Amino acid sequence: MAATGWPKRAELTLNCFGAILLKLKGVFMNVIAFNGSPHKDGVINTSLELIAEELRGAGIDVEIAQIGGESIQGCTGCGACRGKGICRIDNDCVNDYRKKINSSDGIVLGSPVYYGGIAGTFKSFLDRLFYPGQNLFWKAGASVASCRRTGTMATFQQLNNYLTLAGIVITPTVYWNVIHGNNKTEAAEDAEGVYTMRAVGKNMAWLIKALNAAKQTSTPPELGPKVRTNFIRI
Ligand SMILES: Cc1cc2nc3c(=O)[nH]c(=O)nc-3n(C[C@H](O)[C@H](O)[C@H](O)COP(=O)(O)O)c2cc1C
Repeated sequence: MAATGWPKRAELTLNCFGAILLKLKGVFMNVIAFNGSPHKDGVINTSLELIAEELRGAGIDVEIAQIGGESIQGCTGCGACRGKGICRIDNDCVNDYRKKINSSDGIVLGSPVYYGGIAGTFKSFLDRLFYPGQNLFWKAGASVASCRRTGTMATFQQLNNYLTLAGIVITPTVYWNVIHGNNKTEAAEDAEGVYTMRAVGKNMAWLIKALNAAKQTSTPPELGPKVRTNFIRI
């Protein structure tokens, strides 16, 4: 229901303020998990739900964002986002999710394998989500990929490229985070895939808490001005 009148607005403001305070104290923790498949109830959703179940069990809130079925234009390489921190194309969900990842403790990227790589719509989303740059250093992250038969390794590595370049700490795992199947029934039969996803959820929960605890007692290293070359000149 929409907030009407000052008492409701005051209540909302207090709730919001309370959530920020809890966040600062490391009590309220949240993860955003992106489903890069157009299938809302498919294999990637199965793996994200397994991870989410473990995170929620550890007291961490999880939102699964459905991206694969959206209409998302690819990056045009215009460079307008540099310095502004938002994408010039503002008629889809990308900029909204930029705000959300900024206030999250953890980010999960999930994609089905399409022709040996990230599904097209999701690739467009991720290029524009990460390229404007923002301070995501020392958040926790994880990638998961699914396929019928092969191609998960390349896809898993491509997904991790976004996380590592953003300074996100990759969640330890027991195997590479892949699951097999063409639908959720087949995915549930991949016992090792299911075990791996649960392990990712458990490890991510612990990592988020460990990172939050570390941030209370020490500051991350100062890296100095960024050095950037293009192999021809500075
Ligand atoms: C366009 C397209 C390309 C695909 N390419 C591959 C592939 O290269 N290798 C593979 O094993 N499966 C491939 N698949 C199958 C999906 O990766 C697999 O069914 C996936 O687990 C589906 O996940 P979802 O239910 O979350 O969409 C492809 C499917 C589609 C629709």
